[in-house]
Amino acid sequence: MKNNQSHPFELSLAPIQGITDYTFRKLFEQYFGGINKYFAPYLRVDSKGGLSNKQMRDLLPGNNVGIHVIPQIMANRPHDFISMCSFLADQGYTEVNWNLGCPYPMITNRGLGAGLLDKPELTAQILDEVLPKISLNLSIKLRSGVYNENALASMLQIFNNYPLTEVIIHPRYAKQLYRGMANRNLFAEVLPISTHPVCYNGDIASVEDCLQLSEQFPTVKHFMIGRAVISNPFLAAQIQQKNSNLAFDAKKQFAEFHAALFASYLSQSEGGDKQVILKMLGFWEYFALSFTNSDKVYKKFRKAKNKNEYQAAISEVFANETFI
Ligand SMILES: Cc1cc2nc3c(=O)[nH]c(=O)nc-3n(C[C@H](O)[C@H](O)[C@H](O)COP(=O)(O)O)c2cc1C
Repeated sequence: MKNNQSHPFELSLAPIQGITDYTFRKLFEQYFGGINKYFAPYLRVDSKGGLSNKQMRDLLPGNNVGIHVIPQIMANRPHDFISMCSFLADQGYTEVNWNLGCPYPMITNRGLGAGLLDKPELTAQILDEVLPKISLNLSIKLRSGVYNENALASMLQIFNNYPLTEVIIHPRYAKQLYRGMANRNLFAEVLPISTHPVCYNGDIASVEDCLQLSEQFPTVKHFMIGRAVISNPFLAAQIQQKNSNLAFDAKKQFAEFHAALFASYLSQSEGGDKQVILKMLGFWEYFALSFTNSDKVYKKFRKAKNKNEYQAAISEVFANETFI
């Protein structure tokens, strides 16, 4: 493996709604580490302009002790933008990330998330209005466009007019959702346009992949990883150590992490065990990929209808399946 000493970089955990909440972040940091910054899933105000208790709880300082968390917001009305920033400033945060990447039609059709990417004038107007009124530093996470990749270069040019801490590029357009691959050639093409620090995000899958990207883009000092770190929670630390070998007791460590995660959600649950099992199934979509028979593993959890069946699936998987 290439020595990458000449291009040190930071790693962050991508925000993944429903997965990377404070419980996961805290236990992830405790069991695996390797992540310099955790981007929290986006906050969005409801029709009355408020945040839910669940959203607020995720960012309370007491729930995020010892972890570098960067909250994210989704908004297209300056008032909402400013009120979420003011809540976050009150909690002690100094930086916020603006979501211009969420690809789902329910969001984009309302001109939110990636839906702002074909509205450059509105995006600039929002920045004009909010930046003088917020005390937080701002970074932006964006896709390459809505229907195609045409928005990215012009958006980066617009962003050059504003004081941003960084721009995080996930080079896929919204209509792709998560299909295909992030377009690294497009990333290479647009990188010189930005006068801000740029972070690369999209499909980083292994130690080699990340180190190779860092060699290819020596000016990029921050890489963000989402799904691959959920599937293989050892990945971030492996990248930091430039070593893809797993510890001999990796499966045991993972089992302990899983047990702590499950116990933590059970103890917080207001909706009963069934809801927790559904929540855990969301994790197993990713965790299953760390086992050789991933389809079989996932199916076992999908069939589990109650806590006993879930626990039986856990015992069987950890006893019989190979961790990769
Ligand atoms: C289920 C799911 C939920 C996501 N939620 C968010 C989110 O709240 N905010 C955001 O900026 N991106 C969100 N993303 C996108 C990821 O942060 C990331 O940009 C994307 O997964 C690409 O990175 P990866 O290939 O390393 O996973 C989400 C992705 C998935 C699959």
